[in-house]
Amino acid sequence: MQIGSHILKNKLIVAPMAGVTDRPFRQLCKSMGAGMAVSEMVSSNSLLWGSEKTRRRANHEGEVDPISVQIAGADPAMMAEAARYNVAQGAQIIDINMGCPAKKICNVMAGSALLQDQPLVARILDAVVGAVRVPVTLKIRTGWDKQHKNALAVARIAESAGVQALAIHGRTRACAYTGHAEYDTIAAVKAAVGIPVVANGDITTPEKAKEVLDYTKADAIMIGRAAQGRPWIFREIDHYLATGTHLQLPEVAEIHRVLIKHLYDLYSFYGEYSGVRIARKHISWYTKGLVGSAGFRHAMNQLQSTDQQLSAVNEFFSQLAGYGRRLTYVEAEELVA
Ligand SMILES: Cc1cc2nc3c(=O)[nH]c(=O)nc-3n(C[C@H](O)[C@H](O)[C@H](O)COP(=O)(O)O)c2cc1C
Repeated sequence: MQIGSHILKNKLIVAPMAGVTDRPFRQLCKSMGAGMAVSEMVSSNSLLWGSEKTRRRANHEGEVDPISVQIAGADPAMMAEAARYNVAQGAQIIDINMGCPAKKICNVMAGSALLQDQPLVARILDAVVGAVRVPVTLKIRTGWDKQHKNALAVARIAESAGVQALAIHGRTRACAYTGHAEYDTIAAVKAAVGIPVVANGDITTPEKAKEVLDYTKADAIMIGRAAQGRPWIFREIDHYLATGTHLQLPEVAEIHRVLIKHLYDLYSFYGEYSGVRIARKHISWYTKGLVGSAGFRHAMNQLQSTDQQLSAVNEFFSQLAGYGRRLTYVEAEELVA
């Protein structure tokens, strides 16, 4: 998989997720096998660039190449300016968000709402591609709703604008996150355009990753929710694609180490107050389905300091180690309570 001059080490990309794919999480996923990770979206509204949140989103210190930054907005000139600003902050790839169904984004006619207005799509892509020397990529859904699946038309517009890769989430905007992602539209786009296509949506296992790659003939896959609390999914998929065999689930001791390092990274990136709060959702994802985790999560969510949070995690994992060396997920926690 190649984007401009960037040759990725594999076909596995971390999907942009606002509130999740911050620098600590992107670095972690890259260290656990992802070939690339797209940042949380940065608004094209320059009035927000001075805010703490946007400055953090534009912070790529120490991040492994290539650094891909997603921008969101609907005004071609503002999007061009946002692209230039982020390149100046270290972005090596600019990704444009036309895939996000969030109300906050769609109400201002950005994200997936843009798919309704193809001439505007063309103007935005022309403006952004013309504004920066780095490769520009685009993320879309299959269309506005099931009656208006225009991914193919948008893909052609993107290709002629000079966009260098296209990620497609196999749902329409109207589908939000309901039902299942479909891959026929992604396969049709891949067959029709020459630029690299990335398949996205509901890829949760190594088998599903292979199935989607085989079915769509996509150049790469993008994984979002399945990586939450499971960053090792990238090495599991990488191994399966290379060998056809499964890696074992990680050992409890390794996950404990990974989570503790992740927590320290979050605390140092966000500071104690926000760090503890942002860490809660990650700790919940890491421990979901593990023996005794429901009670642990409830208690952990009340803790206010980094020391308390670290001690609670250490205690939970030392109890878990008693159940065996490898992670074991349980269907119903009450079975073991
Ligand atoms: C919490 C969350 C935040 C997201 N934020 C963004 C975003 O900022 N930009 C974007 O293009 N997509 C965003 N998405 C969509 C994901 O990138 C991805 O397309 C979607 O989750 C489907 O992939 P998955 O089934 O692997 O999760 C977000 C998804 C989630 C769950």
